[in-house]
Amino acid sequence: MTSLQNQGAVATETFDLASYLTERAALVEAALDRSIPLVYPEKIYESMRYSLLAGGKRLRPVLCLATCELVGGTIEMAMPTACALEMIHTMSLIHDDLPAMDNDDYRRGKLTNHKVYGEDIAILAGDGLLAYAFEYIARETKGVPAERVLQVIAHLGRAVGAAGLVGGQVVDLESEGKSDVSIETLNFIHRHKTGALLEACVVSGAVLGGAGEEERQRLSRYAQNIGLAFQIVDDILDITATPEELGKTAGKDLQAQKVTYPSLWGIEESRRQAAQLIADAKAELQGYGTAAQPLQAIADFITARKN
Ligand code: IPE
Ligand code: IPE
Ligand code: MG
Ligand code: MG
Ligand code: MG
Repeated sequence: MTSLQNQGAVATETFDLASYLTERAALVEAALDRSIPLVYPEKIYESMRYSLLAGGKRLRPVLCLATCELVGGTIEMAMPTACALEMIHTMSLIHDDLPAMDNDDYRRGKLTNHKVYGEDIAILAGDGLLAYAFEYIARETKGVPAERVLQVIAHLGRAVGAAGLVGGQVVDLESEGKSDVSIETLNFIHRHKTGALLEACVVSGAVLGGAGEEERQRLSRYAQNIGLAFQIVDDILDITATPEELGKTAGKDLQAQKVTYPSLWGIEESRRQAAQLIADAKAELQGYGTAAQPLQAIADFITARKN
C-alpha cells in the first residue's frame, strides 16, 4: 500500500508536511469514496472503485486544493476537480498497466485492474473514469463562476489528450527497445505522459481560485518543473526501490527497454537533475511568503519520496 503520509519526514522546519498531507489526503479519500456509487451494472462501478480507492499518494488532488487555496480560493471550490484529477490519473494507470502497454500485475500494492476484472472491463473502467471525471467537474463544482469551470475543463481535456498524456504515452511506447533516443525525445515523453496532468492539477486549482494570467503562468512553470522531476524520480525508484515500497513491480523499465533518465545519464546525474528542477520550481514561489509552504514542501517531497 503506497502512502504519502508516512513519508512526511521531509517536511520543512516551519511546516509539518506529514500532518498537512494526512489531513488533505483524508478529505480527498472521503470525497472520492462518495463520488462513485455502486449501481447497476455493478461490475463496471466495482472495477472503477477498485482502482480509484486502492490507495495512492493522492498527490494530484492535494496539489489542486493547495493551489486553489494559495491564490485565495477554498477547498470546497476545488474538491470536485481534485477528485476528477485522481479519476483521470487512475484511468491512466489502469490503461498503462494493460498487457498492450506496460503489462504490469501490481499497482498500489494490489493486483492490477485487468488481473482482477479482465482486460475488457479494465479498458472500460478507464473509459468510465475518464468520462465521469469531466461530468463530475461540470456537475459538482459549486460557488465558482461558470467561465472558470469551462476553462478548467478545456485545460484538462488538452492535458490528458493527444496533446498531453496520450501523446507522451505514444512516444514512450514507440521508444521502447531503441538505443538512440535523444534527451529531447525523453523530455517530450516525460513532459507529456506525466508533466501535463501535474501541470493541469496546479493550473486548474489556480483558475478555480481566481488567479490572474501572470500568476497562472508562474504556477504553471512551478508545476512543469515538478512534473518532469516527478517522472525522473519515478524512473530512479524503478531501479532503486523494492516492490514492497513501490506497490508495483520494480525493475520494469530495464526489462521493457524503456528509455529513462537513469538509462541515459545514470542515477547520480538523474538525482542532480531532479534536485535542480525542484529548486527551479520553488524559485517560482518566491513572493508568496509562508502561504507557499504547502507547495514548497510538496516539491521537496517529490525528490525525497520512497514510492
Ligand atoms: C505513478 O504515479 C505514475 C506516474 C506518473 C509515474 P504516482 O506515483 O503518483 O502513483 P500513485 O497515485 O501514488 O499510485
Ligand atoms: C506513467 O509512466 C505515465 C502514465 C501512467 C500516464 P510509467 O509507466 O513509468 O508509470 P509506472 O511506473 O507504471 O507507475
Ligand atoms: Mg508506462
Ligand atoms: Mg507503467
Ligand atoms: Mg515508471
